[in-house]
Amino acid sequence: MKKIGVLTSGGDAPGMNAAIRSVVRCAIHNGLEVKGIFRGYEGLINNEMKDMSARSVSNILSRGGTVLKTSRSEEFMTKEGRKKAFDTIKKNGLDGLIIIGGNGSFQGAHVLWQEFKVPNIGIPGTIDNDINGSDYTIGSHTAVNTALDAIDKIRDTVTSMERIYVVEVMGRKDPFIAITVGLAGGAEEVLFPPHEYNLDDMCDEIVEGRKKGKVSWIIVVSEGVAKATDIVAKIKEKTNFSVRPVVLGHTQRGGSPTAFDRVLASRLGCDAVEALIKGKSDAMVGIVSHELRITPYEEACKEDKEKTLLEEKMYKLTKILAT
Ligand code: F6P
Repeated sequence: MKKIGVLTSGGDAPGMNAAIRSVVRCAIHNGLEVKGIFRGYEGLINNEMKDMSARSVSNILSRGGTVLKTSRSEEFMTKEGRKKAFDTIKKNGLDGLIIIGGNGSFQGAHVLWQEFKVPNIGIPGTIDNDINGSDYTIGSHTAVNTALDAIDKIRDTVTSMERIYVVEVMGRKDPFIAITVGLAGGAEEVLFPPHEYNLDDMCDEIVEGRKKGKVSWIIVVSEGVAKATDIVAKIKEKTNFSVRPVVLGHTQRGGSPTAFDRVLASRLGCDAVEALIKGKSDAMVGIVSHELRITPYEEACKEDKEKTLLEEKMYKLTKILAT
């Protein structure tokens, strides 16, 4: 292995830059040349890349987003697109790739290995924390802190106005952000997948709570189950209390990565380079209970039942503490 490429793909996540920095500097430390590929798989298809040096990744450790840009490439989902990508890989003499992204990106990387045997290792980078084989994905810690900061601020107006707020958070189909900020932010209710909920019961609980003197409520809703505006309409119709929606949206993807995400990204960047040098492929690096773990992509993208149990436990605790 003499020359590798690194790219970021899918939704950006805080800490992706820290991972790029680590990949580039660890690769150079191990005597490899590195190409930075722009816009994820689009850059492979369109041959958009540049030589990376230790200096090209100066001062990016603390920056959100990704200096390599990112995309969700539709063309890469086609066989023709992947063939173009493979031609670019050959043309540039790349012996392997490091893919920083989420499960959609890993599915693409898996197919690239199956069809063209391009050695590649993934680094889990997504705010959703929805990948098996790593306790946390790069960016999820920062996203939770960003959402929590917003919820703490909303709490001030909730208390002052004695209102109900429904705060919608990201996470696609995964409840990690919702359940974590729910507990950390002292939410009165959390609606998250795959947990079943009953809006009529929730409204009855709010009315009962008011009678007992509980005047303000924060309901966290994961984008994977419902829209904040729909929940607000239902509460309004059933209770006639003052209620407002807040959609945190893409703010959760931005900002300077926390120390946790920088450390995770720095560790995984080097682990990925070393795994590639050792001949590993079709798998991602992750950290489980503080230790490096290499997980095949196919397993990384499967559902994790144990995680669901933990989330249910956290939900129960959130409800006990919200009384
Ligand atoms: O996967 C990361 C994520 O931010 C999800 O939480 C969210 O559902 C999705 O990406 C939003 O995608 P887009 O940026 O394409 O709107």
